[in-house]
Amino acid sequence: MKTLVVYSSKSGNTKKLAEAVYAHLPGEKVIQTMEESPEGRGYDLVVAGFWLQAGKVDPLAGKYLENLRGGKLFLMATHGASVHSEHARNAMAGAVKLASSCHILGTFNCQGEVNADFLVKAQAKEPPPPWITDAPSAAGHPDDADIAKLLKEIDKVTP
Ligand SMILES: Cc1cc2nc3c(=O)[nH]c(=O)nc-3n(C[C@H](O)[C@H](O)[C@H](O)COP(=O)(O)O)c2cc1C
Repeated sequence: MKTLVVYSSKSGNTKKLAEAVYAHLPGEKVIQTMEESPEGRGYDLVVAGFWLQAGKVDPLAGKYLENLRGGKLFLMATHGASVHSEHARNAMAGAVKLASSCHILGTFNCQGEVNADFLVKAQAKEPPPPWITDAPSAAGHPDDADIAKLLKEIDKVTP
């Protein structure tokens, strides 16, 4: 079993999830950023992490997911919005659509602390983005409990 953990991360939250998955995985494994691994071919499983920007998969990850050509895929996202919010669910549904050539084994949503400077800017926008009211509760995430939940989901899709 050869697994690729691949991620896009600007401020480190998604990277934190990716590194935890990588450390936990059994078997042959590789961890790369989406810039380093533009194709993601030749693996039994790809675990792909991205963050939300403007209600969608971040642009780098969006391109990456669109370019995948089949194979088993686990998707994980970090965002300021609450895990069960419509915003986060819609964005994950968008990611699943982008990766429609793949067999999606699972998905995982996780709050990720929002960069402080960006948060101030976003709060000043008119109208404010829909996820802004959830953003304060993203502080400190991903935390150990988030990672424990994620690894449980990963265990369900790996031997
Ligand atoms: C430019 C920018 C746009 C963002 N847009 C959204 C958004 O639309 N929805 C959301 O829930 N969070 C949004 N966020 C919050 C990030 O998705 C969140 O903090 C994420 O964990 C960042 O991941 P990273 O640390 O791996 O870069 C935004 C953050 C930035 C900097």
